[in-house]
Amino acid sequence: MDRDLTPDEFQRFHDLIYKVAGIHYPKEKIELLSNRIRKRVRAINCHSYDAYLQQLQQAGESTEQQAFLDSITTNETYFFRCQRHWDYFKSWVQQRHADPARRGQPLRIWSAAASTGAEAYTILIVLQQVLGPGFGGTQVEVLGTDLSMHVLAEARAGLYRNYALAQTAPDVVNKFFTRTEREQFEFDKNLRKLVRFQRHNLMEPLKVSQPFEFIFLRNVMIYFDQPSREKVLQHVFAVAQPGCPLIVGESESLLNTQHGFQYVKPSIFQKPVAPLVRSKA
Ligand SMILES: C[S@@+](CC[C@H](N)C(=O)[O-])C[C@H]1O[C@@H](n2cnc3c(N)ncnc32)[C@H](O)[C@@H]1O
Repeated sequence: MDRDLTPDEFQRFHDLIYKVAGIHYPKEKIELLSNRIRKRVRAINCHSYDAYLQQLQQAGESTEQQAFLDSITTNETYFFRCQRHWDYFKSWVQQRHADPARRGQPLRIWSAAASTGAEAYTILIVLQQVLGPGFGGTQVEVLGTDLSMHVLAEARAGLYRNYALAQTAPDVVNKFFTRTEREQFEFDKNLRKLVRFQRHNLMEPLKVSQPFEFIFLRNVMIYFDQPSREKVLQHVFAVAQPGCPLIVGESESLLNTQHGFQYVKPSIFQKPVAPLVRSKA
């Protein structure tokens, strides 16, 4: 398979990806999608794009469908991505800790579309920077979810290359990472245990026993169209505690998108503390 997808093949793969993952590949990305699919077609010795598509459609939730989803997602991430967001998170943690009623409560945070875990682990670094070792007695639970099983395996392994640490101060690298023989950096083993990584498709509701107090949903909605964004935000809203901040990617606009969150500042939202009561005219 040396050629790119034809427009018709592109459309049929697009429809499948959209149906399963809510991801919208614009037509200009035909070459990118062709390259990604071609790798899978070759890996399993399939003779045509059409045969591969049929295999995916017939198999339903199969190993190959997962491998296909792994191959078509974009997983770029790094520690301390967007410093402005971490400054906000830091001051939120300080305020929470200053409140005696909240300080003793378990702190649950969701890193949605976590990719290889840099965001979930940055959360722990910042918490330790603010609260000290053992988080000043606060019980911390971080959930990292992603559609791709491949990135979740990497997240659990906690091994990173230089690129992922380019925005991380050298003293932080020294404190929280161990250099391995293969020029990788391994994130602190004990802190790693505080993150649970789990596969979750944002197009579906997340089942949790307790809501979250803080949610990161960054740099994934750029791949969704408006109906998919609204569906995701509905699912996220359902598992957010009242007052829960929601941080989205810097380039992600929620304008013209229906959701129940209130605007706080650019790319930062919050679930209303009390339900909005409409006054009768
Ligand atoms: C660019 S990465 C963002 C990682 C991290 N949130 C950050 O901002 O650095 C986008 C991630 O979204 C995941 N993703 C795409 N569609 C998804 C879906 N429908 N449900 C869950 N995760 C999805 C991809 O697998 C990928 O790892």
